[in-house]
Amino acid sequence: MSQLTPDTKVRARAVVLISGRGSNLSAIVRAISQGKLSLELLAVISNRADAKGLTIAKDAGIATRIIDHKNFKTREDFDLALAEQIDAFAPDVVVLAGFMRLLSTAFTSKYPGRLVNIHPSLLPAYKGLNTHQRAIDDRAQEHGASVHFVTADLDGGPVLMQVKVPVYADDDRDVLAARVLAAEHELFPSALELIATNRAKLTDEVIQIDNEPLSSPLLLPYTAIDAKR
Ligand code: GRF
Repeated sequence: MSQLTPDTKVRARAVVLISGRGSNLSAIVRAISQGKLSLELLAVISNRADAKGLTIAKDAGIATRIIDHKNFKTREDFDLALAEQIDAFAPDVVVLAGFMRLLSTAFTSKYPGRLVNIHPSLLPAYKGLNTHQRAIDDRAQEHGASVHFVTADLDGGPVLMQVKVPVYADDDRDVLAARVLAAEHELFPSALELIATNRAKLTDEVIQIDNEPLSSPLLLPYTAIDAKR
């Protein structure tokens, strides 16, 4: 049990997968310590030894593991080793927080309704990489981030919650990315809390909220976050 987790609040136990900076991991750790997220973090697993997020995990007293994808011949071999490490912690939920590896169907089908990802766009728009530049190139007025359940369809699983941010005419990629990231840090803990408390569930690839099917993603209001340009 992480020392940051108040016992009484824990509803679900999670393993978090990262590849880099770990700012979303940090936001999750903060939300737990503030009593806003009833999740216990069992471990943080990275496919890169130099991921900055590993330091965030260690500082929070969370177990860390490194599984370097370069040590495996095939994606399937890597995914098997990853699943073995995850399963050793027996989590309820597996959280992808900036995990930059494509996952095989064999892997995703192991965790139906238990694998959650954050993606920096308003899905189904801009699946894949380089989302912020693509939004600018399209002169999109609105951009944002989505938390979705992961299925075999890359960035295509059912979306639980989104946050929309404005795109301004003079935005460059970095400015827009920072605006979206600040919003992600509010979005991810809010969405995870619904899952941790069992209010949000995936049944036959349909999200249920309080046992009612969700017809469109929940929307987190942006105004409360960081409306500065
Ligand atoms: C975030 O933009 C997230 O949406 C995407 O990868 C980035 C991870 O950033 N999947 P961080 O490592 O959480 O800072």
